[in-house]
Amino acid sequence: MKMFKSLCICLLLGSIQPVIAQVSIVGAGKKVDPYHYAVVKNGQFRRASVSSAHPLASLVGAAIMEQGGNAFDAGIATQLALAVVYPGAGNIGGGGFLLARQRNGELIGLDYREAAPGKASRDMYLDKNGNPLPALSQIGHLASGIPGTIAGLFATLPYAKLPFKTLIQPAIDLAEKGFVLTEKQVSSFNSEREIFIKNNTAPIAFVKEGKWHVGDTLIQKDLAATLKRIQKDGAKGFYDGETAKLIVAEMQKGNGIISLDDLLNYTAKLRSPIEFDYRDHHIISFAPPSSGGILINQMLKMIEKYPMGSYGFQSAKSVQLMIEAERRAYADRAEHMGDPDFWKVPVKTLTSDAYLAVRMSDYKADKAGSSAAVKAGTIHESEETTHISIMDAAGNMVSITTTLNGGYGCKTVVSGAGFFLNNEMDDFSVKPGVPNMYGAVGGEANAIAPGKRMLSSMTPTLILKNKKPFVVIGTPGGTTIPTSVFQGIVNIIDYNMSASDAINKPKFHHQWLPDNVMIEKDFDANTKKLLMAMGYKLIERDGIGRTEAIKLLSDGKRETAADIRGDDSVAGF
Ligand code: DON
Repeated sequence: MKMFKSLCICLLLGSIQPVIAQVSIVGAGKKVDPYHYAVVKNGQFRRASVSSAHPLASLVGAAIMEQGGNAFDAGIATQLALAVVYPGAGNIGGGGFLLARQRNGELIGLDYREAAPGKASRDMYLDKNGNPLPALSQIGHLASGIPGTIAGLFATLPYAKLPFKTLIQPAIDLAEKGFVLTEKQVSSFNSEREIFIKNNTAPIAFVKEGKWHVGDTLIQKDLAATLKRIQKDGAKGFYDGETAKLIVAEMQKGNGIISLDDLLNYTAKLRSPIEFDYRDHHIISFAPPSSGGILINQMLKMIEKYPMGSYGFQSAKSVQLMIEAERRAYADRAEHMGDPDFWKVPVKTLTSDAYLAVRMSDYKADKAGSSAAVKAGTIHESEETTHISIMDAAGNMVSITTTLNGGYGCKTVVSGAGFFLNNEMDDFSVKPGVPNMYGAVGGEANAIAPGKRMLSSMTPTLILKNKKPFVVIGTPGGTTIPTSVFQGIVNIIDYNMSASDAINKPKFHHQWLPDNVMIEKDFDANTKKLLMAMGYKLIERDGIGRTEAIKLLSDGKRETAADIRGDDSVAGF
């Protein structure tokens, strides 16, 4: 398998010392060496492509396809591997969305978003005076929704070819035998040390005597045992039996409320994707409870009538237009979007040409709009997540975004089971108008209720050209996710960029409130000056998102690209 092919920026992980001789990762073979691996930013592959947040996870996905698995097999194996090698966001204690197009053209939208526990209530994160208590919705046991990932993997299995026990084995090996940490992971574990200790009653694998050093190996015995229970008993190995018992026991050590019934009753759900055309391309993205698909539909349609190509890439004119589209779409997010099983989301109206034309009717080129003036439209109608992009030889396209919400979720590991729980409850609107950890506001549509799924921004997306596979794309980044995907699509379609350029160019983000534009540090200085002169308040910040994209080239190869902002890495053949 030519894993490290052409065009790659290979960053061999400096001073890695082999701990023992190279071991076989069962099901992935010796090609996945957890002690020697490289970050590969770009490759061109003909038959199998994977781009994910960690080199070992991408290698596992590609190896599974080399063994005869398809993109769904790779999706399952890569997610499980990420749960081991990328514990900040890869997970079995969180949730996600899978969007896929099968080789026969059939679309699949799988929602395995976390849900509010049965004992959750609308004001559970307010004090007696009605003031929000962000520490409760963001850190520790009470912050966690019912995990959905394992249900999602088993709902994906009917589309896969290999047995589940094969797909989970590489993750078991990586947990049991260990893998060498990247430099970024070493510094992340060291900086989280105190908060990990504070939020866990028993020692956890991520805290070490003294400090972590580059070259250290992480072994996760408890997680390996949990994965083996899932291998043996299927979804019941997580939602019932020993693992469920450990989750409920962990809840009782803190202020958690997830019960055995909550776990037993959790199911993944099928959702019809959001679909629309943009400049002769067909875009497919995720429906509520994600806001992502509707937002990119609104933003792309708001700018479609303007000649973005002749405005020029990241000229003040094109950026201003995109900011104003972002402002208007996010105002609608705050008011109209939530779990469709609890709130009627007016999808048709929000994405109709007539509605979007009205929304843009007060747009003025050359002058900053105002979020105080732009409210949500009136409807008359009855920083840690991770993305995986995959394409296989048959043309199956799989786009998966999965999350614990914040880095390491609620920072609490299920004692004895070895995995972090999410802090996804913070994605609900804890009180109308009160911003969550991403500054997003909401109201009734996204209020907390038992069993309800919190509104997400995750935007796994596919693009077809001439009705054929063209692009798989997605990213983490909280509320910046839809704007990152929006800009990635514009870069590919309007500016004809390679996948690498499209995801790695500097980005900007406006989300209605607060009324400012976040902008990456290396953004064009002249465009910044012109935007400020129009009245925009710019706030510089570090990396927005970590996008993974695959683009089909005219010669049939797939350009497979990983974001330069992290350890993200591609594999394929
Ligand atoms: O579902 C959502 O929108 C958030 N929980 C995603 C969080 C995220 O992307 C954090 N990553 N940087």
